[in-house]
Amino acid sequence: MIRVVQGDAKDVSSIMPIMSDAFDPRFGEAWTAAQCLSTLVLPDCQLLLAKDGDVVCGFAITRWVFEHEELLMIGVASNYQRQKIGQNLLNEVINRGQIAGREKLFLEVRDGNPAHYFYLKAGFAPIGRRKNYYKSAEGISPDAITMGIDL
Ligand SMILES: CC(C)(COP(=O)(O)OP(=O)(O)OC[C@H]1O[C@@H](n2cnc3c(N)ncnc32)[C@H](O)[C@@H]1OP(=O)(O)O)[C@@H](O)C(=O)NCCC(=O)NCCS
Repeated sequence: MIRVVQGDAKDVSSIMPIMSDAFDPRFGEAWTAAQCLSTLVLPDCQLLLAKDGDVVCGFAITRWVFEHEELLMIGVASNYQRQKIGQNLLNEVINRGQIAGREKLFLEVRDGNPAHYFYLKAGFAPIGRRKNYYKSAEGISPDAITMGIDL
């Protein structure tokens, strides 16, 4: 059974295999361990882990900004995808945001990332676009789509 639990900076090494495995390497979306650590030491950032026994199979990193929550990063190991683990993580982010009295949850997703469908299915609506936000090694610069949901 999959459990979603709170993590912290000490858990960064357990999410790095998912960073390498789940994210498309062409677009530089995955974070380095140093980026994760420098984010998770901030008091307004939180890490949630999805665990199958002792195995970390998914994670979400969020940041609280005034009355809003931002989903900075979510990933599920490729061999665990399409089993509602991402949805469980997102539900937990939403529950915690509601309990904390946040008004909205925002995120950015690369135009062309199938995760866009995952967010639409979860009820997020597109609200804006950042032109050429991502950079690929092949010289392609996809837009970032900003999405939001009321909490
Ligand atoms: C996006 C991601 C977190 C989704 O996690 P997941 O556990 O596989 O998703 P779920 O099983 O909870 O999916 C719930 C629903 O979202 C939709 N969905 C999820 N992945 C999808 C995909 N690749 N294509 C289309 N729809 C998708 C489906 O409607 C799915 O329900 P269904 O399987 O019954 O059809 C996962 O695919 C992932 O880690 N992707 C790589 C990392 C990434 O790009 N993260 C987002 C940017 S930060």
